[in-house]
This record gives sequence, structure tokens and C-alpha cells, in this order.
Amino acid sequence: MLPLAIARLSLWLSPIIKLLPEKLAIKIYSSARTYFMQQLYKYKAPPVTINKYNIKILWGLAFRLPLMNSAGMFKNGEGYDLVANQGAGAYIGGTSTYNPREGNTRLGIHHPFISLAKSHISLNYLGLPNLGDIQLSKFTVNKQDGCPVGWSLMRSPDYTSGIAMEKLIESLWLYHDNPTIDFLEINESCPNLTSLKSDSIDNSLDTLENRLLYIGQNFLSKRKRHLPVILKLSNDLEQSLIPKILDVLFLTKFDGINLGNTSTNYAKVKLANLTQRKLFNYFVQNFGGGIGGNCLKKTSLNLCSIAVNYAKSNNPGYEFHVIRSGGVSSIEDIIESENAGISLNQWYTGYFENYIKHGDALYASIFNFYKEKNPY
Ligand SMILES: Cc1cc2nc3c(=O)[nH]c(=O)nc-3n(C[C@H](O)[C@H](O)[C@H](O)COP(=O)(O)O)c2cc1C
Repeated sequence: MLPLAIARLSLWLSPIIKLLPEKLAIKIYSSARTYFMQQLYKYKAPPVTINKYNIKILWGLAFRLPLMNSAGMFKNGEGYDLVANQGAGAYIGGTSTYNPREGNTRLGIHHPFISLAKSHISLNYLGLPNLGDIQLSKFTVNKQDGCPVGWSLMRSPDYTSGIAMEKLIESLWLYHDNPTIDFLEINESCPNLTSLKSDSIDNSLDTLENRLLYIGQNFLSKRKRHLPVILKLSNDLEQSLIPKILDVLFLTKFDGINLGNTSTNYAKVKLANLTQRKLFNYFVQNFGGGIGGNCLKKTSLNLCSIAVNYAKSNNPGYEFHVIRSGGVSSIEDIIESENAGISLNQWYTGYFENYIKHGDALYASIFNFYKEKNPY
């Protein structure tokens, strides 16, 4: 079955599924997501024409649009041809870890996920399933002009912190030595792993600082080719920490920051619809996991704007970019980002919402519509 038909059928059936007991509804959603993604990976999208905008050159790489997928969509390196044919401005694979991981199963539900389409929210507790860096770092594709390849990786939660960092450095070198990879993103923000919570950014800047210094000493300062490296943090990041974090990123020569990942600020989400609220509450009480979607729109814009302004007034002396992820779903979001000086946008929840509406023309529908005003 074509992925678009599956996505539209799921949306059509979702009011009925949501009336089922919460656990059953989440089980159906999670299995449907897995099936849909398998079909999407296999699907051969025809090339879609996107009107030419001013290609952005960031770190010497050409991005034909300022919008691309965010990490976690193509965990095992699937989907480059798909998004490149759809017209994406870049591709990112991962997030991967040094060791292969099965991901989470809880209450008999494998890779728990739910999408609350009416509220434009997704919730996931996938737990970083991936085939591991030894295999994934051999990733190769036929690259299209203007669609560079990024890779997201993180320290594995399956090792003690010292070993996890050593393995992360090993992984960084594996991707460094693969010429297909144009840039790397280090994920420091995944909410799906309780073992990371105690030393996550929210609780201890010192620990994060030490990790960044370690990456700086053992990888960033020793790179043998031009390979930009970005740090991805959570949308739950305290605004007041941004200057301190950027100072460390400048010191260690990170090339950018992505703000950011899903949120675990469950109390902030207000859902008027009773059925959606019940499902949401059941999910966060039984799985936890991360929230993506519209509720992150303002947060990601604010955090990124603060980062842009700090980078402008404290010029690091080399090319440093701010990337926005969280609630991006429309041309208005892209324009707001552009006006705020944000270099690039990533979407996850918004990608699927637009895919259901526009199919393979999802990038074209956003950017071609704006051709006359041509803000880029
Ligand atoms: C199902 C799912 C899986 C995700 N997996 C990852 C991941 O592996 N690595 C990562 O950095 N972010 C991951 N994310 C977070 C997204 O990349 C993105 O930062 C977040 O969802 C906010 O963007 P959005 O509002 O467009 O969804 C995942 C999100 C979802 C919904």
C-alpha cells in the first residue's frame, strides 16, 4: 500500500481509534506508525520541482531550501532519495548510538507513539532504536545538488558515562571518515531514556560542559577534514543557560546549535478536547516520552532568537549557525526564522502533517506558493 494512502487512512480512522481504551489506541497507533514508516522507506518518490530560491551556503555547503527533516525520522539511514526527490534542503539520518538498540517496549507496546492531529502534537517513547554506528557509519547515497547529508548521533545510555563518551568519540571518527557525511549533529537532549535524566542539561551544566570539552579535545580540535558539528539540545532548555552554553560551544569550536528536541514539559500542554486529553495523560503517565509539534513553535523561535543574538554580539570568529527544530510546519514559520537570523529549519511532526495534505509536493506546497514574494 502507498504510504500516502496509509497516512490518510490512519487520519480518517483516528477519531474512531481514539474512542478505544487508551492502551489499545496507543498500540494501534504505534503499530500503524511502524508499518507506515516501513512503506515510506520503500517508496520511490518521483522528483518534484521546487522553484529556485537563493541557495544558502552554510559552512561551504549548498542548501537549496532552509528546511529539512529533523533527526529520528530515518534512524537507520533510510529515506535520502525520498526527501531529496521531494525537494528537501538537506537530509539527516540517525540518531544512532555506538551499540545497536532495540528501542522501548512497555505494556506490550513496541516503540510507543501517538499523534494528536487536531492539536498538532506528537508523543513518542521510541527509545533510540538503531542498528549501531559500526554498521550505520558505512552509510552511502547518491547525493543530489543542494541536499547535503547530515548524521545525528549520541552517547549510548547502555554504558557508564566514561565509556559512553569514549564510544561516542569512536563513532564520531567513524562518520568523520565517511566522505558521504557533510555535517554531524550530536544529540544531547533525548527525553526517552531515564538513565540520561539525572545528568541532562536541565540539571547540571557542569556535566554538559565537561562532555563538550571532552568532545572538543578528542574530536573537534583534531578533525582532518571540513566537517561541521552541531549540538542539539532540548526545547526545555532554560533561556538563561544559552549564553553559558554558547561560550563553551565557541571555545570548543562547535559549528552550530539546534534548538531543539522534544519537550517533557507535560504541564504546559493544554488540550481542550476530552478524548485527546485522556490519551495524552495516559501516554505521559505510562511512558513519559517527548512532545513534538505546534506547542514548541514559540519556544523554539524564542530559544533560537536568543542564541542568534548572543552569537551576533559575541562573535565567535568563525562560522556558527543556529538551527530551529520544534513546531515548524508552514512558510510563516520559515519567514519568522529567517527574520530572526536562524539559518536552517528542521521539521518532524510538521513534515507528516504536510505530507498527509500535499503528498510528495510537501516542500513545493510551502515554497512554490511563496514564489511571487520570494523572501529568500
Ligand atoms: C517519533 C519521533 C522520533 C524522534 N527521534 C529523534 C531522534 O532519534 N533524535 C533526535 O535528535 N530527535 C528525535 N526526535 C525529535 C525531533 O527530531 C524534533 O526535534 C522534535 O520532534 C521537535 O520537532 P517537531 O515539533 O517538528 O516534531 C523525534 C521525534 C519524534 C516525533
